[in-house]
Amino acid sequence: MKALRVNALSDDLSGVELVDMPSPERAPGDVLVRVRAASLNFPDLLMTRGDYQFKPEVPFISGLECAGEVIETDPDSGFAPGDRVMGGNKTGAFAELASLPARGLSRIPAGLDYAQGAAMGAAYSTAYTGLVELSGLQAGQTVLVHGASGGVGLAACDLAKALGAKVIAATGVVDKRDAIDAACSPDSVILAEGRFREQVARLTDGRLCDIVFDPVGGDIFDESTRCVSFGGKLVVVGFTSGRIAEVATNIPLIKGFSIVGLRAGEYARRFPERGAAINAAIAQLAEAGRISPAIDRTLPLSRWREGFEAMARRELVGKVVFEPSA
Ligand SMILES: NC(=O)c1ccc[n+]([C@@H]2O[C@H](COP(=O)([O-])OP(=O)(O)OC[C@H]3O[C@@H](n4cnc5c(N)ncnc54)[C@H](OP(=O)(O)O)[C@@H]3O)[C@@H](O)[C@H]2O)c1
Repeated sequence: MKALRVNALSDDLSGVELVDMPSPERAPGDVLVRVRAASLNFPDLLMTRGDYQFKPEVPFISGLECAGEVIETDPDSGFAPGDRVMGGNKTGAFAELASLPARGLSRIPAGLDYAQGAAMGAAYSTAYTGLVELSGLQAGQTVLVHGASGGVGLAACDLAKALGAKVIAATGVVDKRDAIDAACSPDSVILAEGRFREQVARLTDGRLCDIVFDPVGGDIFDESTRCVSFGGKLVVVGFTSGRIAEVATNIPLIKGFSIVGLRAGEYARRFPERGAAINAAIAQLAEAGRISPAIDRTLPLSRWREGFEAMARRELVGKVVFEPSA
């Protein structure tokens, strides 16, 4: 089968190679999936460099999530051959076949194709866990979403809108504003640069935001501590800026807000019933047509480099989807 293998860690993707390799045997308890589509996430890029918190030993097959059909499974796995599933296991998704634990898979919501299924899973479960599960998002609240053009950022905008929030989408790239607007119809799109609190204050009549969802970190996090209302939540999602911010603890005390650490995958592993409830809630919204993932481009896996480089250069608005058999 064709698979995208990381042979060695590198900062320029030179250690990554599309290879022909033997098909995987189904591991005990796993589900063997024929991958129809797989989506790129920021951690996939970080893992090629050894910069992610999870550091698989090289060589490994890249790809933390995919969608496809079940080929082979145990009768008690909850799945049957032919089922359309989505999910993953941190690595192994960028291949024609993947042996994946049943607990990491769920059914593709009705009405979504394989590309949408692959693009939905991690982004929407991250958004749902951060906004709803950990921050108690309510209709009518105001949410500021940073890195709004990203997979997770667009999912957070789309989900918050669907749940009746007022959404301020924030991007660091001025040229992306129209595309973000078209992808998820937020209430406003702002350029998050310098002292963006003044823009946020103007858009909220001085009330600021109930929730700030931050996949970027660094200077964006620093200024975001000035954008959360009393009783609000500042959700730490990631550090795409490359800098992990530090905060003086008197700031959340004086301003009366909470800093919420998000680890969506780990949350679902530690609390499997909550993980299942989150997946069910997302599926229901998707099947009702109230949310749908934004896909920037779909590429054959042979053009993997184009997708990885576009992500590294911060060019994307939405997800990159690879098709291993195209
Ligand atoms: N905590 C969790 O449970 C969890 C789960 C999944 C992912 N994550 C994290 O969430 C973050 C986003 O992941 P993703 O898959 O959505 O990535 P992505 O699609 O590449 O989106 C990241 C966005 O961050 C913004 N950004 C700001 N500075 C950047 C820089 N120097 N380089 C690249 N992008 C930059 C960009 O948005 P603009 O150009 O619009 O500003 C970009 O679109 C990552 O840090 C990832 O590790 C966390």
